[in-house]
Amino acid sequence: MKILMVCLGNICRSPMAEGLLRARAAERGVSLITDSAGTSNYHVGEAPDLRAQAAMRRRGIDISDLRGRQFNAKDFAAFDHIFVMDRSNLANVLALAEGPHQQARVRLMMDMLPEAELREVPDPYFGGDDGFDAVFDQLDSAIHRFLDELEHGR
Ligand code: 4NP
Repeated sequence: MKILMVCLGNICRSPMAEGLLRARAAERGVSLITDSAGTSNYHVGEAPDLRAQAAMRRRGIDISDLRGRQFNAKDFAAFDHIFVMDRSNLANVLALAEGPHQQARVRLMMDMLPEAELREVPDPYFGGDDGFDAVFDQLDSAIHRFLDELEHGR
C-alpha cells in the first residue's frame, strides 16, 4: 500500500502528515510506503520548515530526512491513496488527473474525520508555532482513523 500526502509547499503540512503516518503505521506494525509532495515547486529539495520539524520533535517524531518535491501526474499511478490538505490542493491535483479512476484516489485528509468541524488542514506557514501544534493534532486524529480503516476495514 502506497500513500501520498500533498499540500502547497511540501514543507509544512504534508511532510508532517508523512512523518505521522510513517510513525503511527510503524507503531501498529502496519507496512506502508509513504511519501509527500507539493502542488507548487517553491520548496523543491528543501527540508521541512524548522517550525514543522520542531512541532514534530516535541511529539517525538523526526522528519529532518524529508525533502520537498513537486506533485506530478505520474503520482496517480504510483500511489493507492492521495490525501490533500485543503480544497485548493484538491483542485490543483484533480486538474492533473486523467479520468475518474485517477480522481477517485484523491481525498481531503479531513474526509477521514467526517465528524470534525474543520474540513481542511489550515496552512500554518504564515502563523505562529501554535498553528503547527494544531496541525499535528488534526493530522494525528485523521491518520489514526485512516489506519483503523486499513486494519479493520472500518
Ligand atoms: P505547506 O505550507 O503547503 O503546508 O507546505 C506552505 C509552505 C510554503 C508556502 C506556502 C505554504 N509558500 O508560499 O512558500
